Amino acid sequence: MSEHEFKGLIGQPLDRVEGPLKVSGRATYAADWRGDKPHLIGFIVESPVAKGRIVSIDAGKARACEGVKAVVTHENAPKQIPFGERAKGGRFAQSHAMMRTDEVRHLGYPVALVVADTLEQARHAASLVKVEIEAEDGVFDPETHEDEAVKPGELDGSPEVDTETGDFEAEYEKATHRVEGEFHTPHQHAAAMEPHATVAEWDGDKLTVHMSIQILGDGRKAFANTFDIDPEDVRIVSPYIGGGFGSKLGVHNEAILAAHGAKLTGRPVRIAQHRRNVFSNGPNRPPHRQRLKLGADANGKIVAIDHDVLSIMARDYPFAEAAASPTRGSYATKAMRTKHRVVEGDIPKADSMRAPGEAVGTLTFESMIDELAHSCGVDPVEFRLRNEPEKDPHSGKPFSTRKMRRCLQEGAETFGWKGPVSRREGDWLIGHGMAAAIRPNLMQKAEAEIELSTDGRVTVRLDMTDIGTGTYTILTQIAAEAMGVSPEYVTVKLGDTDFPETCGSGGSFGAGSTGTAVFEAARALKDDLLKRAAKADGDWKGANSKELRINGANIALGERTLPIAQLGDGSGGISAKGAAKPGKEYKTMAQYSYGAQFAEVAVDAVTGEIRLRRLTGVFDAGRILNEKTARSQLMGGMIFGIGAALMEESLMDLRYGAFMNRDLAEYHIAVNRDVPRLDVHMIDGFDENSNPLGSKGIGELGICGAGPAIANAVFAATGHRVRKFPIHMEDLISSLPPLDG
Ligand code: MOS
Repeated sequence: MSEHEFKGLIGQPLDRVEGPLKVSGRATYAADWRGDKPHLIGFIVESPVAKGRIVSIDAGKARACEGVKAVVTHENAPKQIPFGERAKGGRFAQSHAMMRTDEVRHLGYPVALVVADTLEQARHAASLVKVEIEAEDGVFDPETHEDEAVKPGELDGSPEVDTETGDFEAEYEKATHRVEGEFHTPHQHAAAMEPHATVAEWDGDKLTVHMSIQILGDGRKAFANTFDIDPEDVRIVSPYIGGGFGSKLGVHNEAILAAHGAKLTGRPVRIAQHRRNVFSNGPNRPPHRQRLKLGADANGKIVAIDHDVLSIMARDYPFAEAAASPTRGSYATKAMRTKHRVVEGDIPKADSMRAPGEAVGTLTFESMIDELAHSCGVDPVEFRLRNEPEKDPHSGKPFSTRKMRRCLQEGAETFGWKGPVSRREGDWLIGHGMAAAIRPNLMQKAEAEIELSTDGRVTVRLDMTDIGTGTYTILTQIAAEAMGVSPEYVTVKLGDTDFPETCGSGGSFGAGSTGTAVFEAARALKDDLLKRAAKADGDWKGANSKELRINGANIALGERTLPIAQLGDGSGGISAKGAAKPGKEYKTMAQYSYGAQFAEVAVDAVTGEIRLRRLTGVFDAGRILNEKTARSQLMGGMIFGIGAALMEESLMDLRYGAFMNRDLAEYHIAVNRDVPRLDVHMIDGFDENSNPLGSKGIGELGICGAGPAIANAVFAATGHRVRKFPIHMEDLISSLPPLDG
């Protein structure tokens, strides 16, 4: 078993190493966890109004119910730091105080928590809690409150908030072809299969929570900042997560409430949000109004781009999607202006969701590019090729790599692109559309520990999470290849703040950042093993750690072997740590991952019903770490794109700030019947400027471009441009051809 034998393991379509545990029900998700002490169940009483002050709470009847151990309200909740304070470290680390005062922050805000022996008892008692609230008018719609909009302190992912290069007005004025449009995208909810859940337990001032969360390190700070305790006194455990999609990046409401219940009762308390809770006590993607103006010259070259974004955030929870950020890296232009504004509102926490920024930004921008290509009379693929930039259009920095041309060309070829085809097949209007996909490639700080036991087994520990993306598997592959052992000898342990801190899962930065940390840890361990070997036996001096391998209970190099047991101090295994952080190439270069997507839709000529017939995506995300999990992620992203174009929206009654479709029967995500064959192609590359593994973020790339490709196909089919997403049949009906006879 030499390193050489396992070279090439990275990239292989290894099955998910935790798959058997999941399909056999043995993976313990947050709500599955059972400790030594029997725990109690919490049930949330939600506010029926969005803003106001609690005048009185009568919990007498609830407290008298069988099995009820406590009713937590603002009158008896544990001491907390005000919501939003001590925000150093960002919004995920800020205080997430709940029920600290009599203030109601949004519709569905927890005003009481009933804790009882069983769920049934808690739920029944919760129905008996009487809350009187003096309601006030709230802010729910960014457009009607646009005069209160402010420039966000920062954008999600931290790109510049506003940018301007060249003279937009002058170039736009001179342009031969001009298009402009106002787009609307709705609130959305991540709709993870596993609702947010927590089991919390106090031991004096020490808090342990088993919860479903994507970034443990920040979560730990959030608990510490909420309860004014030391982060070291908080332990978060989150080994398995049933989907996050951003909605579990930070601490969610039931986690703080479970800690309240546990404090008051002295027992562990479990709260699993029910599906309706998730829509108010989990985060949402905010709605956006985007205004776009694009100009091109007589040769079909883009000369002017203006992208203006307005959105809404929850009060005291600073958040703004960088919707115009992908625009900045997309096309060569003489002038470009981008701007983001946000209104503070009385809505549940607005937060990152599946490709924050790009998902809504490329949806609209790539639709507008289609309009501009159309106006120029140039094929949309040719138009994009013609406007490919040599260097980053906004910053002027060189691209680390840019394989957009290949994505466009290979996509066109695979799909059989013949331009924006529109034809009729019986009652169906067929249209072809395409769009480019671009997403910043990010890298974050991460640490990992790797341990070699005397019997040659490798254990990797880090507080990274696997949100269903395949982290356990790719880290197993990386550790196995780096150590020169078979993957069966590697155990990856994730999701525990007792392990070295990482960036967690988010922003498509998880694999590259934590994979690098594991890779570096393995490198450090091999160097250390050789040092120890040289001490034990002079023959090993000067050996190259790259050639070191693990052979059963021995280390081996060429013909030499030495028992691992002789290298340690006798107390067990030998371990080393490794760390990753963004290199200078993240400052000196523009780093993105790329794609191109092609869609065929059929629109019912009578009803306007839209069916997606096929979707092809070609992607460049650097080196692919696992062919199977990468494909699944891209597919999942493409499916989100279908939802964004055609289905997903959380409808808010703007009179009350109330989400109306709070379940998966009414919040429509694309299901099997909506998803045709998806063609996924990966351009396997290596970006040497990204990280030592050569990989780039892939998780959210598939989303980018999928939605606008579909929207552009709908335009091709019907000749009608819908600028409000998702596109509904009623938006098309007036543009359909007259019925015969
Ligand atoms: Mo992602 S929206 O950063 O989980």
